[in-house]
Amino acid sequence: MTRANARAVLITGCSSGIGLCVAQGLKSRGYRVIATARKKADVQRLIDDGFESLGLDLSDSASIAAALDEVLERTGNRLYALFNNGGYGQPGAVEDLSMKALRAQFEVNFFGWHELTRRVLPVMRAQGEGRIIQNSSVLGFITLKYRGAYNASKFALEGLSDTLRLELQGTDIHVCLIEPGPILSRFRENAHRAFKANIDAEHSFHRNAYISLERRLADNEIEPPFTLPASAVLKRVIHALESSRPKPRYYVTVPTYGFGLLKRLLPTRVLDRLLIAASRAEVRH
Ligand SMILES: NC(=O)c1ccc[n+]([C@@H]2O[C@H](COP(=O)([O-])OP(=O)(O)OC[C@H]3O[C@@H](n4cnc5c(N)ncnc54)[C@H](OP(=O)(O)O)[C@@H]3O)[C@@H](O)[C@H]2O)c1
Repeated sequence: MTRANARAVLITGCSSGIGLCVAQGLKSRGYRVIATARKKADVQRLIDDGFESLGLDLSDSASIAAALDEVLERTGNRLYALFNNGGYGQPGAVEDLSMKALRAQFEVNFFGWHELTRRVLPVMRAQGEGRIIQNSSVLGFITLKYRGAYNASKFALEGLSDTLRLELQGTDIHVCLIEPGPILSRFRENAHRAFKANIDAEHSFHRNAYISLERRLADNEIEPPFTLPASAVLKRVIHALESSRPKPRYYVTVPTYGFGLLKRLLPTRVLDRLLIAASRAEVRH
């Protein structure tokens, strides 16, 4: 494919982790990748590495609008796919989540994605095809203790994406949810920052649990069991882009497959016991 006829894919959150890996993988596969990041220094680094890159902050409507206008101007109003990816996890017990912290979580992980998707859909309808690929999570369908804000944002994303898929039936625009379990990235480091910024651990009923939670978030050496590299997500994204029948859901990692099955089989109370044990194991790492 030459750049002129290469399929354009817009990706959010390309400064690190999954976004960066998918941007690299798709670029080397011949896609015209527009790799966005929210910080200027990261945009410059991406440009230096040979990407087409723009600033896009998902918590800022003006930034979303400006980035998309620029993308469409560059591509002549065409965009084959949007990979909604940029996001973070706000750890903390539900009772310790301020409205401000919960709103901030939704601004980035949910409303920002929705805003971008809404702006992209008319372009896809006009061109008669498109792919909206949502980087959800195993935590988009099961819950863990101290992940309430993140769980809620990803559950909301799953609901909205499932509805959108029904509404796009009969078109050649496909909505796919990618559901990774643990993936190597800067996710924990960024979650730790959000924890420190927004949770009053000292005065919390959960302060003892927070000590081990923080230890785990700060420890870059120990990975949760079954952690995979970001390339495992790339593989699913490629299928979602290139299959004539992309799947509504792509599981990634053993925990996703395992919990996907258990969620369908087990009564809620039994599943709860398993999830409490899993939360405990997570906190202990
Ligand atoms: N890693 C996992 O185990 C895992 C599992 C399931 C799902 N996911 C999902 O995968 C996606 C990517 O996460 P990751 O694992 O690759 O973690 P990561 O390395 O922390 O990358 C997150 C990316 O999102 C960006 N981001 C954060 N806030 C943003 C904002 N306001 N506007 C635009 N971009 C923003 C970050 O940019 P900055 O560098 O500027 O902060 C970074 O580029 C997330 O949606 C996450 O929920 C991850």
